[in-house]
Amino acid sequence: MKIVIIGTAGRLGAALMPEYQGEHDVNGFNHAQLDLSNLDKIREKLAGTHFDVLINAAAFTNVDLCETQSDQAFRVNAEAPGVLAEICGEKNARLIHFSTDYVFDGEKRVPYTEEDEANPISVYGESKLAGEKKALAAENRHLVVRVSWVFGPDRPSFIDGMMQRAQENEKVDAIADKFSTPAYTRDIAKMLPRFFDNGVEGGILHFANAGKCSWQEYAQWALDCCDKAGLSLKANTVGACKLKDMANWIARRPVYSVLSTAKYTQLTGTSPRTWREAVADYITRFYSKK
Ligand SMILES: NC(=O)c1ccc[n+]([C@@H]2O[C@H](COP(=O)([O-])OP(=O)(O)OC[C@H]3O[C@@H](n4cnc5c(N)ncnc54)[C@H](OP(=O)(O)O)[C@@H]3O)[C@@H](O)[C@H]2O)c1
Repeated sequence: MKIVIIGTAGRLGAALMPEYQGEHDVNGFNHAQLDLSNLDKIREKLAGTHFDVLINAAAFTNVDLCETQSDQAFRVNAEAPGVLAEICGEKNARLIHFSTDYVFDGEKRVPYTEEDEANPISVYGESKLAGEKKALAAENRHLVVRVSWVFGPDRPSFIDGMMQRAQENEKVDAIADKFSTPAYTRDIAKMLPRFFDNGVEGGILHFANAGKCSWQEYAQWALDCCDKAGLSLKANTVGACKLKDMANWIARRPVYSVLSTAKYTQLTGTSPRTWREAVADYITRFYSKK
């Protein structure tokens, strides 16, 4: 298949490129090569390119900055996916567009399904929800994949920051009253080809590793894995802090945004591995001193 990936320098986009090269004909654009805020440029760049699958892993992901730059957030996260969907429709190609658990308000206490009503509480969440609708409005074969707490080797995320803090400080803490599930970029990259074919059901799909945790539990498990991997840390225990202590955060965040992967399991007959297994694998592979 001919695949084009947008956002190849991002945490997720960078993990997709190497996964599909070899088996497929893969091309990609980073931010400098294709600026999604320039809608005419998108059309111009993609007009002469043939592809079967277009994967959009690019987004304006700085949740706080979105609050003060909402025009840019809606252009990149909402208008651009709409244009990508139209282009794919014209080319009879499938758009796979990534979205987020932040489309939910976080009021539930059991995992969110694809049927649950989205009700974003931030500009980022609103812009991503608008992008989902535009991506799906053009052609019903397109697919929106919502993921949560993305981590992987290509760009540091929460756990990399926690590990660094634990190497440099004797005391570290993390939020104990906000819950979701980490999603490993390599696991996302591996499951996605099942959905490349136009004949496979489109719509919304939730994907994350299995289980649920707070940021404190997530960080504690990362430090436990570092210990097993032979990494020396100054702090081995993660203390608890509260969401309301994050005085410098501008945007509101959902307190609970666990995504149900029941639909994924029903469609594929497989279940994602647990977040603990995925984090352990990541740390062993990319941080192990042994
Ligand atoms: N990270 C998470 O925890 C998380 C959670 C839920 C959902 N998601 C979703 O997962 C997808 C991938 O996120 P990620 O974690 O890989 O984020 P990321 O590391 O921030 O990557 C996003 C990429 O998009 C690029 N980008 C930003 N503005 C752009 C523009 N105007 N034109 C073209 N490219 C632009 C960024 O380039 P620059 O760095 O140069 O700006 C970056 O390379 C996104 O749809 C995101 O909403 C992420």
